[in-house]
Parts: sequence; C-alpha cells; structure tokens
Amino acid sequence: MRVVVTGANGFVGLHTVRGLLDAGYDVLALDVMDSRLAPEFKGDKRCRIVTMSILDKDLRKIINKEDKVLHLAAIARFDQARQNPQKAVAVNIEGTLNIIQACIMKKVERLVYASTGSVYSHSAPIPIREDAKREPGSIYGLTKKHAEDWIFLYGESLPYVILRYGYVYGKDKDWGAVGAFLKRLREGERPVIFGGMQTNDFIYIKDIVQANLLALETEHVRQAYNVGSGRAISIKDVCEACIAAVKTNLTMEIKPARIFDFPVFVYDISKAQTLLNFEPKWNLSRGIEDILKQ
Ligand SMILES: NC(=O)c1ccc[n+]([C@@H]2O[C@H](COP(=O)([O-])OP(=O)(O)OC[C@H]3O[C@@H](n4cnc5c(N)ncnc54)[C@H](O)[C@@H]3O)[C@@H](O)[C@H]2O)c1
Repeated sequence: MRVVVTGANGFVGLHTVRGLLDAGYDVLALDVMDSRLAPEFKGDKRCRIVTMSILDKDLRKIINKEDKVLHLAAIARFDQARQNPQKAVAVNIEGTLNIIQACIMKKVERLVYASTGSVYSHSAPIPIREDAKREPGSIYGLTKKHAEDWIFLYGESLPYVILRYGYVYGKDKDWGAVGAFLKRLREGERPVIFGGMQTNDFIYIKDIVQANLLALETEHVRQAYNVGSGRAISIKDVCEACIAAVKTNLTMEIKPARIFDFPVFVYDISKAQTLLNFEPKWNLSRGIEDILKQ
C-alpha cells in the first residue's frame, strides 16, 4: 500500500513519513521543498520524493488509483496567512481543490485531510465537539474551513477523513508554545508568552502520527475528528513545564495576549477514541522530555 503525503517536508510530514515507512507502507513524499526529505530518505527505495506544488495540474499524473492520500501541505502558520492572504487562499483552498479533483479522477481509496481547531468559533461550547459551530477567527482558520467545505461538497465521490489537530508540538517545530520556549531556553534567553492564561489542547507529534495512521485505515470514513489530548493546559503552565525540564533559573517574559488566540480551547476527543481507536499516549511533561532526549 502506498501513501501520498503532501507537505512531506514539513513538521508533521517528516514525522509521518518516518511513521509510515516504519509501519511498512511505501510513501510518495510530495512538497515544494525537499531540504529535509532528501538528506534522510534519498536512496530509500520505499520513499519516492517528488518536488512539486499542490497547485500543479500534473499532480494527477503521479497519484495512482491504489493510493491513499494524506494531505498536509499548507500555509500552516497564522502569521504567514495574515501576511499573505492570497497565498494562503491559493495553497490552502485552491491547492486542496486540486488534490480533491486529482483524487476523484484517479478514484483513490481515500483522502485524509489535516485540518485544525482554528476552524471552530471562539464561542464554541467547551470541550469542543466536532458538531460545534465552525466560524474561524483568523485568515488561516478561514482557509482551512473552506478547504473542509470543498471536501464535504465532493464527499459523495471521495471517501475522506478530516482530522482537526489540536496544538501539535514536537522535535523540529521550534516556534510557537513549547518549540519557541525550548529554543530560547536552550540559547539562554527568556521565553516570551502572550497573555498566558489562555489554554490549548496540546498533542505530541507521536500521537498525531498515530492518528494519521489510524485515519488511513479506519472504516469510519466521511467523518471529521478532533485529535487532541482532551486536556486544557494554559500557556503559562506549558512555559513553566519547559523551564522545569530544561532546569534553568530563567523566568518567562509576559506580553499582552493576541486576538487570534482562543481564551479557552480544549477538545472532546471521544469521537476519535470510539471510532478511530485513537488514544493519546504522551502527556505534556513526557512529550517535552522526549524532545529534549532527541
Ligand atoms: N502544527 C500544528 O500545530 C498544526 C495544528 C493543526 C493543523 N495543522 C495542519 O497540519 C498540516 C501540517 O502542518 P505542519 O505543522 O507540518 O506545517 P509545516 O509548515 O511544517 O509544513 C507544511 C508543508 O507544506 C509545504 N507546502 C507549502 N505550500 C506548498 C505547495 N504549494 N505545494 C506543496 N507543498 C507545499 C511546505 O513546504 C511545508 O513543508 C497543515 O495542513 C496544518 O494546517 C498543524
């Protein structure tokens, strides 16, 4: 079985390509860049690297009927989407439409799409369920919601699974909470937090890889699933956990909160637990320890 992974050179992509190869899949790793893929996988017969944009119509030439497609490629950062909304629309919406059309033309087995909690309304009841109102408060979230809507629209012709990841952290993501905190602490600098009382649903990259693999195999398709830990942790607590793990005397610097952050965010993950058999295995302190070991 071959899995086409888009955005394979990215943070989630690289970890997932490794997980897929370890689990015995062949992989077609597609990205506009191969800077991280090539050094690790060039020469591996089970991993074909293709440097191509998801906006390229030739995409349909490289996808086969027997494939499953895991679509991760995106403008995946709030700040990048805000600075260049046209590019975010092109990649996240038009790129996803191009993937959908290629998948339908080739009659692939399924499309798994990496979505986000940013599609939900800031006033969604807590813990957030999959049927909560989708009303994004950011350009990034809006493009991800539109991509979901295109998948729903074509859903009759395409078995799909939508995974709405929580806040993913792990090795090779050195920005955002956890990543930026550890980076600064290791460089002897004070970590900066914005607000700090807002909570998020932190999920370790190894649990995300597990969810991606389950989504590629589940019988329960044409569904959206929240993929998180089901625990609300404040940014301040995350920062404190990083400081404790690095064992330093440095303290955090607190700046004003940003409007696009949810005040409280935590998932109800019971649907993923029941239908996907997804069970998060890493709590925050173990996840941070694991990063520091690598
Ligand atoms: N990391 C998180 O916390 C998180 C949370 C929720 C959802 N997600 C979603 O998961 C997916 C992966 O996120 P990530 O953190 O690995 O992001 P990332 O930025 O590390 O990776 C995205 C990859 O997409 C590639 N890409 C961009 N434009 C492309 C194009 N036109 N054609 C082909 N490839 C292109 C980039 O080169 C990059 O390698 C994204 O869809 C993101 O929206 C991530």
